[in-house]
Amino acid sequence: MRRSLCFVVVSLALAMISRAQNQPSLKDAYQSCFMVGAALNPAQFTGRDQAEDAIIKAQFKTITPENVLKWAIVHPKPDGYDFALADKYVEFGAQNRMFVIGHNLVWHSQVPKWVFEDANGKPLSRDALLQRMHEHISKVVGRYRGRIKGWDVVNEALNDDGTLRQSPWLKIIGEDYIEKAFRFAHEADPDAQLYYNDYSLENEAKRKGAIELVKKLKEKGVPITGVGLQDHVSLDSPTTDQIDTTINAFNQLGVKVMITELDVDVLPWPGSNPTADVSMHAAADPKLNPYPNGLPDAVQQALSRRYADLFGTYAKHCGVVTRVTFWGVTDKDSWKNDWPVKGRTNYPLLFDRNAQPKPAFDAAIQAAAKRASQSPAGSIGGRARRLSYTGFNVAASENATARIAATFLIQNSRTES
Ligand code: XIL
Repeated sequence: MRRSLCFVVVSLALAMISRAQNQPSLKDAYQSCFMVGAALNPAQFTGRDQAEDAIIKAQFKTITPENVLKWAIVHPKPDGYDFALADKYVEFGAQNRMFVIGHNLVWHSQVPKWVFEDANGKPLSRDALLQRMHEHISKVVGRYRGRIKGWDVVNEALNDDGTLRQSPWLKIIGEDYIEKAFRFAHEADPDAQLYYNDYSLENEAKRKGAIELVKKLKEKGVPITGVGLQDHVSLDSPTTDQIDTTINAFNQLGVKVMITELDVDVLPWPGSNPTADVSMHAAADPKLNPYPNGLPDAVQQALSRRYADLFGTYAKHCGVVTRVTFWGVTDKDSWKNDWPVKGRTNYPLLFDRNAQPKPAFDAAIQAAAKRASQSPAGSIGGRARRLSYTGFNVAASENATARIAATFLIQNSRTES
């Protein structure tokens, strides 16, 4: 009995894995355009979750650690680092030849209180906090020098109105904490790409603040490579026009643009304005959790359309947008099930709770084909490259879109430059 149960479990796992391997892949569909990736938790990068492991290897070219490189986890005590999980994460990326991202170095959240206090619990002086920041960045970035290729150096430093957030970093050090963080990171790994990462940059006031910030940094010669648009979005906000404008605005400043934390919230928003501010929390209420047993067809379709539009917009900026990273792999473990309301059933990603691709997955793949058919050279971004068919059909083979899609499924792997 136990044996046959074991057999069934193993067979099911193998079937899921082979299915994952036979699916068309996001990383191939967008290979000539940008890298596609996902944020991972420990069950995923240690292979504990086999179905997800198969999806990650088949679908993604780049990974981000959902939590394990945040200060509270990697540096929980003044003289105590804990690199156990971070080392495994980086090793997983290396083994699978992925572009490994570090997230994040300086943030107001998931940072222990002691960081801002002296031994007597009194606020640290500017110099002492700068020294602490320097030590942390040197140690963490230095440990993974050459292996972590890009770092979210400063995360969420702006308020919604575009002014600087009154974080302990700002209050104690002053405005130049941002520039210092970038300089320290560059010193620890001169070859790493360095990013400013934030949410709601599609909203005009916050975008203006970010543009000013990036301009100032560039004028001062601060080594910033790119801006991360988190894109924790809903079904209708921000609009793809807003996203388009935002990508153009940062491109004009001469920085790369990345979509760093993509997911689409399909549940009612419990406040007035959608945000990704992690300090927001709302009480559980059945009205806020309308689909505990499955997503109605109409919403499933709306989600697919939204993903098609998003990927269409990102692909329009081929080469300017250099990476699109999902915040999670399957709906089962998305942070959106517990934030901003605990215990909801959300459906924000392209793979469902059983690790199966959703209609939105096909929509995201097909958006590549559509974009390719619209671009002059028949490839996304119109870049001429040596092309060869990798063997998956986006749609029926008679379909012109599928034929065009086949022309840009290139095999030579691309690393972000
Ligand atoms: C989230 C993680 O997904 C959660 O597991 C954690 O409890 C809180 O942080 N913006 C960011 C990410 O930059 O680090 C956040 O990740 C989501 C919002």
